[in-house]
Amino acid sequence: MTPAVFIAILCLGVASGAPILDPSLDAEWQEWKKKYDKSYSLEEEELRRAVWEENLKMIKLHNGENGLGKNGFTMEINEFGDTTGEEFRKMMVEFPVQTHREGKSIMKRAAGSIFPKFVDWRKKGYVTPVRRQGNCNACWAFSVTGAIEAQTIWQTGKLIPLSVQNLVDCSKSQGNEGCQWGDPHIAYEYVLNNGGLEAEATYPYKGKEGVCRYNPKHSKAEITGFVSLPESEDILMEAVATIGPISVAVDASFNSFGFYKKGLYDEPNCSNNTVNHSVLVVGYGFEGNETDGNSYWLIKNSWGRKWGLRGYMKIPKDQNNFCAIASYAHYPTV
Ligand SMILES: *[C@@H]1O[C@H](CO)[C@@H](O)[C@H](O)[C@H]1NC(C)=O
Ligand SMILES: *[C@@H]1O[C@H](CO)[C@@H](O)[C@H](O)[C@H]1NC(C)=O
Ligand SMILES: *[C@@H]1O[C@H](CO)[C@@H](O)[C@H](O)[C@H]1NC(C)=O
Ligand SMILES: *[C@@H]1O[C@H](CO)[C@@H](O)[C@H](O)[C@H]1NC(C)=O
Repeated sequence: MTPAVFIAILCLGVASGAPILDPSLDAEWQEWKKKYDKSYSLEEEELRRAVWEENLKMIKLHNGENGLGKNGFTMEINEFGDTTGEEFRKMMVEFPVQTHREGKSIMKRAAGSIFPKFVDWRKKGYVTPVRRQGNCNACWAFSVTGAIEAQTIWQTGKLIPLSVQNLVDCSKSQGNEGCQWGDPHIAYEYVLNNGGLEAEATYPYKGKEGVCRYNPKHSKAEITGFVSLPESEDILMEAVATIGPISVAVDASFNSFGFYKKGLYDEPNCSNNTVNHSVLVVGYGFEGNETDGNSYWLIKNSWGRKWGLRGYMKIPKDQNNFCAIASYAHYPTV
């Protein structure tokens, strides 16, 4: 063994104890911390900086020199920049639900009926602004309010942001666990049995659990039931085209999902039958030529407007149920 190899091994050992940071990234680090409002204790800062540098390297590698990434899918060093892949997965295990497959088909489609090539319910005014769940795992509640907000328009003609906090605080007796965990199915059941849901204006989001203070006088939305869709992208497409935004769940457990910036999301190991994050499908379409196979679902996330495409993401469509997009889909009836 040459001394050089010996030294190299020794250096590695030291490196894992105290991270070696790249001083040329100092300015970028300060800027990132400011942008995402991060502050740390002295010891924590060093560790987080090391994680951030690793992520930055991975993201730069992914995005490549032309900055386009694979299939035009690019990542960004966003608010998850100081999070390891393992930590990100832990955050996402928030939602390990059984996927219900007994849903009924909506069966409106005459054989061969044709749906629009592009659907975007935002353009029709059926989608409220993107919100930010913060440190509360209430994605399930954002997904459900999003679907009810849209269906309520058919009744009232108005787009009213509904209360996520109402669901977080009040659907515990049905089995949801506030900021820890929740199931959209149970949230719909709560709204149905409760006979209403308040608006964001009267029951604003706090990002932490509180005592239920639902007041029926302030109810702004009621549902008559909800439908679970069978696991099928064709049926999901029919529902998105004819009914409105649909609440779904996806496998979001890879940090590539967290760092998503734009393009069609890609992750070789994304599951097509297990889910751990709830979102809202607000449309679908394709990039380039229709025959290129670059179809996507347009999903609304609850990680703020700084994430992804101003809070949205394009997930590949008609690719064997990529990321399990059609495995757990629901919509409310009003
Ligand atoms: C995502 O959720 C499924 C359960 O629905 C679980 O089996 C899977 O391990 C989760 N992913 C991670 C990395 O936790
Ligand atoms: C996908 O999963 C395989 C087997 O678990 C693993 O070896 C591989 O590194 C994973 N690929 C990515 C990109 O995560
Ligand atoms: C679509 O395909 C046609 C014919 O193959 C080609 O002429 C055209 O440039 C393509 N358009 C795009 C947007 O890729
Ligand atoms: C999941 O992927 C496998 C292999 O790609 C495919 O055979 C299966 O049909 C997919 N499941 C669904 C529900 O599409």
